[in-house]
Amino acid sequence: MLKKQVEKLLNEQTQKEAYSSYLYLAMASWAETQGMSGVAEWLYAQAEEEKDHMLKFIHFINERGSHAIIPAIEQPPKQWKDIYTMFNEVLEHEKFISESINKIFESAIKEKDYAVQNWIQWFVEEQVEEESSVQTIIDKLNLLDKGKSGLYVFDKDIATMRSKK
Ligand code: FEO
Repeated sequence: MLKKQVEKLLNEQTQKEAYSSYLYLAMASWAETQGMSGVAEWLYAQAEEEKDHMLKFIHFINERGSHAIIPAIEQPPKQWKDIYTMFNEVLEHEKFISESINKIFESAIKEKDYAVQNWIQWFVEEQVEEESSVQTIIDKLNLLDKGKSGLYVFDKDIATMRSKK
């Protein structure tokens, strides 16, 4: 059985992963309307991954004898100033998620819940990868000339940059 505080944090994380999926879907949809089909493809795939993360939390909570609550999801923004702003927001969001995962780990240590400590390790590693892959995208964007031709090449390139899972 999960301790109350750990259970609360795991359920909150389910909501955060669900929101991540919605946020990346909103970004994908916006990018698609901007003619950035490579960026949209990357974001749609990212949204699917976040849905998988949410499901991992749901199944784990239930397997540990608790009850995963399916959360309401807030509406994400509809549009972004430009692609640079959008990817910086992705990075900030992933940093926020990493902190949240770390808090679950800290709580599991405090509560001496070894099963959660062990299970959450996958997400600790996943966050290192996610932050790094988004940082790589931002580094590439910063190397571009900010004109349309640079963005065209970037859009083609990003479709090949999905992190391997
Ligand atoms: Fe599920 Fe991108 O964190």
